[in-house]
Amino acid sequence: MSAAGGTGTTRLDVHFTNSDARADLRADVARGLTAVPKELPPKWFYDARGSELFERITDLPEYYPFRTERALLADSVADIARSSGADTVVELGSGSSTKTRLLLDAFLAAGTLRRYVPQDVSESALQGAIEELHREYPDLTLHGVVGDFTTDLARLPGADPGGRRMIAFLGGTIGNLLPGPRHAFLTHVREILAPGEQLLLGTGLVTDPAVMVPAYDDADGITADFNRNVLRVLNRELGADFDVAAFDHVAHWDPANSWIEMRLRAARDLRVRVAELDLEVAFDAGEELVTEVSAKFRPEAIDEFATAAGFTTTRRWTDPDERFALSLLTAG
Ligand code: AVJ
Repeated sequence: MSAAGGTGTTRLDVHFTNSDARADLRADVARGLTAVPKELPPKWFYDARGSELFERITDLPEYYPFRTERALLADSVADIARSSGADTVVELGSGSSTKTRLLLDAFLAAGTLRRYVPQDVSESALQGAIEELHREYPDLTLHGVVGDFTTDLARLPGADPGGRRMIAFLGGTIGNLLPGPRHAFLTHVREILAPGEQLLLGTGLVTDPAVMVPAYDDADGITADFNRNVLRVLNRELGADFDVAAFDHVAHWDPANSWIEMRLRAARDLRVRVAELDLEVAFDAGEELVTEVSAKFRPEAIDEFATAAGFTTTRRWTDPDERFALSLLTAG
């Protein structure tokens, strides 16, 4: 399909189906609820209700990361586009439409951009985004890839002949990966890139705990509701019988690991049955289930993990309060 007068084509590859997601959910829940301490991966927050709650979080006065990154990107994106020179921009987990448009406008103004490759787990979200972007950017080649950013990177389209890609991974989502999986992910990104291709990485920086903790424990309880949503997902998708109201929201800053941990704390002794897994789990009163780790970094730590994965830091942009960074990493 092509908009009137436009030369850009569109395409959507689906590598990840609802049944793949179900199998992943079952495996994650079977493992996580029998682990000590109990844990669930944060990716299962994001059903329709969870995605809407996350959108509300991004509007909260306490949740500075989203708007700090957006303002930083607005201020630095012309510089980023000039430093990069990529003709293909790939965006992993391309949920954030304002950030996408900032990138596209700047790379078009720099005169290099020919193709945009959004990647997301949600086929419907990607389909909608591609249709809208095709109307707004009729000359741009749009190639959506439905997939999981941790497992499906090899499915991303290669560089065009003579061209270079820049993969954007924004939002600070890299902080949701523990050190081992983070290194595995970055090494995998490095492997699918040719030397000279780039990764634009958004990371939360270590700042005052009095700023970081409220961002994950807001006064209106929206984050608490977002946190508990993972239990509703398990109830619906796996026939579990969590009493969602019996879990209290906890946000804890762990200075040794340099991360915020979100947990759900059982208010009393509980027995939960997960029908589809034929699994019974017991929670003692006060027992905590870890639902998300959100790491914050010092700039030197970013350089260290980038180097360990085969990247060099070409440039970094930081907001005036030094709460968030965008790092342009080049594959060596
Ligand atoms: C979307 C993963 C960047 O870790 O800050 C927001 C998710 N969790 N509030 C983050 C989140 C609690 C967010 N990321």
